[in-house]
Amino acid sequence: MSDTIVIDGGRRLEGSVPVLGAKNAVLKHMVATLLAPGRHRIENVPDIVDVRIMTEVLRHVGASCRFEDSVLEIDVPDAPAPEAPLDLVRQMRASILVLGSLLARCGSARVALPGGDDFGSRPIDFHVRGLEAMGATFELDHGVLVASAPDGLHGTDVFLEFPSVGATENLLLAAVLARGASTIRNAAREPELEDLAEFLMKMGAKIDGAGTSTIEIHGVPDLSPAVHRTVPDRLEAGTYLVAGAMSAGTVTVVDCVPEHLRMELAKLRAAGCEVSTTPSSITVTGPERPQPVDIATLPYPGFHTDMHPQLVSFLSVADGTSIVTENIYAGRFRYLGELGRMGAQAVADGQHVVIRGVETLSGCEVDACDIRAGAAIAIAGLRGEGVTTIHDAAHIDRGYQDFVLKLASLGAAIERH
Ligand code: EPU
Repeated sequence: MSDTIVIDGGRRLEGSVPVLGAKNAVLKHMVATLLAPGRHRIENVPDIVDVRIMTEVLRHVGASCRFEDSVLEIDVPDAPAPEAPLDLVRQMRASILVLGSLLARCGSARVALPGGDDFGSRPIDFHVRGLEAMGATFELDHGVLVASAPDGLHGTDVFLEFPSVGATENLLLAAVLARGASTIRNAAREPELEDLAEFLMKMGAKIDGAGTSTIEIHGVPDLSPAVHRTVPDRLEAGTYLVAGAMSAGTVTVVDCVPEHLRMELAKLRAAGCEVSTTPSSITVTGPERPQPVDIATLPYPGFHTDMHPQLVSFLSVADGTSIVTENIYAGRFRYLGELGRMGAQAVADGQHVVIRGVETLSGCEVDACDIRAGAAIAIAGLRGEGVTTIHDAAHIDRGYQDFVLKLASLGAAIERH
């Protein structure tokens, strides 16, 4: 696929668009299948690059994957190969989630250690410490994390220093097959994690409290394959709603769960958007110019860090000054330079972004630095005068299926070149 998206700004978006299953849930379901041999079926799966990379990880481990019409069937062998190589982990950090499953299933795992990324260094110390408390030992062998638990894992009581999504998931995946009971305290409460627990329970796992800060797991000796429909992607939904609001249009997102975006919708309302919901849809009408609002990203149910760049784009044309505080990552600000080239006045000061609203943005050549930054730049392009050309647009394909088609269906003048 070509790597450039071209937007001719200034069209008001109108209409409705469906969302698919959440990237950050389906990647974990895929890893969870490794816990039970046999054929699993995952539905509502987006055809995005990250899902393709995870199928490569699973193939490397010995599973076979068929992906058609949003349905992913995975056949897991009796004896998976406990290894995730560097080229795949480097392409997608989420590959490290195989650690918990492989340790639980095979008693060992060799997973390349991911480096930092554009969000700053992203350590996995919580994952490692939690798995050590379950009886695993770790060694670093030339950049590869070698984990072993020859006598199997045992249940434990873990208090996470921070409610890390990935650490909670890795520990949950390991604990469902461990001997005895485990408790994860200060656990992440994200809807995608709750969805992972639901999938695991369909496989026969005994889990209480997923979606709360304390998750209790009673290990079972084995699990069976399951069928599951992935929870809708709140980030895909939120992105199209902000796109519509930025264009001062009206966009309805269907097949979503409005309560998963409670804080994000509250901030859109505060910025002057009209917001209405049904049990499975959200409609947002944007104002001619947003009101400034202050936002702080926090673990769920707080404002999602992965909606931060899109909101900064939106607030860049507000009638006043907003402050967005990033509390999850040390840095995810590279996109500010790109927005600045379009005329936005948004600068980072420590973990805060100070956004002095301007009346207009102007189209130019920009880079999509990562998935959400790419979406944010496209949102700015919808409002910008003239043509915005987004290079490295493949970043956007990591998280959004049919991004260009969906925005075009809402009336945007957008093309892939
Ligand atoms: N952290 C540590 N040590 C650890 C684990 C995390 O210090 O052992 C820190 C991280 O460095 C970060 C913070 O804790 O500063 C939160 O990290 P978390 O573990 O919660 O994030 P993650 O599991 O690596 C997932 C999503 C991200 C999303 C975050 C926060 C997936 C595949 N990724 O990452 O999604 O931003 O949760 O909600 O689920 C995206 O979709 O674009 C994306 C980046």
